[in-house]
Amino acid sequence: QELDLKLEMLEKGGYDHFMLKEIYEQPRSVRDCMRGRIYPDSGEVQLGGIKEYAEKLKNVDRIIIVACGTSWHAGLVGEYLIEEYARVSVEVEYASEFRYRNPIITEKDIVIAISQSGETADTMAAITLAKEKGATIFGICNVVGSSIPRISHAGVYTHAGPEIGVASTKAFTAQVTALTLLAFYIAKLRGQIKRSDLTYLLTELNNIPNEIQKALAANDGIKQIAHHFTGSRNCLFLGRGSGFPVALEGALKLKEISYIHAEGYPAAEMKHGPIALIDEEMPVIFIATKNSSYEKVISNIQEVKARKGVVIAIVTKGDKHVKAIADYVIEIPESNEAFLPLLAIIPLQLLSYHIAVMRGCNVDQPRNLAKSVTVE
Ligand code: G6P
Repeated sequence: QELDLKLEMLEKGGYDHFMLKEIYEQPRSVRDCMRGRIYPDSGEVQLGGIKEYAEKLKNVDRIIIVACGTSWHAGLVGEYLIEEYARVSVEVEYASEFRYRNPIITEKDIVIAISQSGETADTMAAITLAKEKGATIFGICNVVGSSIPRISHAGVYTHAGPEIGVASTKAFTAQVTALTLLAFYIAKLRGQIKRSDLTYLLTELNNIPNEIQKALAANDGIKQIAHHFTGSRNCLFLGRGSGFPVALEGALKLKEISYIHAEGYPAAEMKHGPIALIDEEMPVIFIATKNSSYEKVISNIQEVKARKGVVIAIVTKGDKHVKAIADYVIEIPESNEAFLPLLAIIPLQLLSYHIAVMRGCNVDQPRNLAKSVTVE
């Protein structure tokens, strides 16, 4: 038995849980996803798995992303990036809904399935249907040789390494990295991005693993903050722009592993409903980093404070304005807005983790959840 315990500790690399180990692996897994694919000096992105489809990508009018759970959130980040940089219209669909509503698909479409396991039944069914209707199917998957890559025409592996914790962490950031590469790749193919801009962005992206490492250094402070919320019953996560999918993913992490009811919302939608929930018992977590929606998020924070909500804000290092009004702040390094999700999700993963551990939950195997859902 002692040997079993030791073996388990060894597998977890000295961490208490797989989830924590996987959170800490992210500088490496994001780096692994980019390895051999970006060339900052020459402004090149190479995606060997889809290069045969370059011509198709160059002329595509619409990309449909299908996924479930965390992978669907990565898809939403992908939508922002592909539309912003490549100027191709993107629709992101829950695979389970898409497959049952007689979707409009043509041979001109590219359908991208995002899946950590590559085995999710609904995602498989969605691309099987899209393939029958003549669409080109790409898979963005983690598990090499799994079912989705096998039935896809082409794809990009995320190379995050095995993910054991049921709540997805490093697979998410790797999916977002792969989608970032894809957005830049298509942007370049379509002549939508200047070489100098791409060189700059790729240089920044290349440095993101180091910035993730710095974001992880906030862990002790996050643990302190977590202490205050172990008794919470509800929690709101708010963000704007690509901070919105991050808010959704933060809320999903918290509910999955701590069983605290949590909702993610676009910050501006708060006034159309969730604001009714805010009182002194309600923690509201804001993605309030310095980007194009910074001022607007600050006014959303003020609205929450006016109703006595408790604000935890994810801010850019050195921020003063949000610090002056929020109850708690967690700093992440400054970065280009394109890479915000890769950094902003880190403190949310850690916050959920600590709250769940303090509540005595089984973080690696939360009740009622499965790592991969191979039935409908
Ligand atoms: C399950 C897992 C989630 C995951 C989702 C989609 O619900 O618990 O963590 O995001 O399936 O899985 P996939 O393997 O397709 O990414």
